[in-house]
Amino acid sequence: MHMKRPQHERTEWPRTHFIQQHREDMAAVRAELAAGLTAPLARLAPKYFYDALGSRLFDAITELDEYYPTRTEAAIFDVHGQAMARQVPSGAVWFDLGAGSCAKASSLFGVMRPGAYVPIDISVDYLRGSVAAVQERHPQLPMLGLGLDFSSALELPAEAGAWLSAHGLQAAPRCVFYPGSSIGNFAPDEALRLLGQARALCEGGGSGSGLLIGVDRVKETAVLEPAYDDALGVTAAFNRNLLRHVNRLLGSDFAPERWRHVAFYSEAESRIEMHLQADGAQTVSWPGGQRTFADGERLHTENSYKWTPEAFEALLQQAGFGEVTHWSDGRSWFSVFWAQA
Ligand code: AVI
Repeated sequence: MHMKRPQHERTEWPRTHFIQQHREDMAAVRAELAAGLTAPLARLAPKYFYDALGSRLFDAITELDEYYPTRTEAAIFDVHGQAMARQVPSGAVWFDLGAGSCAKASSLFGVMRPGAYVPIDISVDYLRGSVAAVQERHPQLPMLGLGLDFSSALELPAEAGAWLSAHGLQAAPRCVFYPGSSIGNFAPDEALRLLGQARALCEGGGSGSGLLIGVDRVKETAVLEPAYDDALGVTAAFNRNLLRHVNRLLGSDFAPERWRHVAFYSEAESRIEMHLQADGAQTVSWPGGQRTFADGERLHTENSYKWTPEAFEALLQQAGFGEVTHWSDGRSWFSVFWAQA
């Protein structure tokens, strides 16, 4: 009799394998959105920015004159890539958190020489397309796409462990790659939890494992605020588009044109705050709920924390990492850290 092997006991793997761990639970999504909208200080989670249009608007943001983080980080990799390659072991398995187009990690393959590539993103469908393109340019590099919501828990499914073993990579060093200063969208306690999980992931690999992470730095308000409130209004459109996305998810009737984009730097909290401010009193309804907003009342949509290198290094150490090295740009606006596990 032919018995089907469980997936994780497979002996042959296609060159590019995918594991879909995350499945959207729409009832939970609607409950979370409704809870945020009816909270005393109304809020929506920034992960809902990224529907198809929101992702395009974010790409447009990265090209704005005022939005310095993306190009500053790219320049740091250009200038210091060789120095980084002396720290990041060649042959390491790269875990790319929030990989999206896979463009940042793959641009470093030539200098860093990974042994395998594991891009992780909440949307495995989008990953399939981007990994196929990267795999074509790097046909010899084993790749495993992982559809995972690592913001709630960064843990490898058993099938991923089996994939690593099947490729003889269970004892290879690991590099957790988290560029783009996305860590800034987590409050410090949540960032600490995620960094702790990144360290645990590194610990599963061989010696020399570590975390390569991009972090936006504390700087003058005059530089920070325009980066989140640009002259062309692209960030405003990105912020308001959240309401269109929520209308689709929740069945609500937000009128995006009746909300103003607000972004400011809070020195006390070391963070940019983004809000949407009601332009006139209005009632928003959805199946099973509603909320009336007074004229000028705000809906909090995002925080983007900025770090000093000292404070971020302390956070890495609190998360259990060992020796830390970091590289910056000429204006000290952004840093890339390598933290040994
Ligand atoms: C994705 N993340 C790092 C961006 C940031 O700078 O916090 C999101 C963003 N929000 C407005 N502009 C860009």
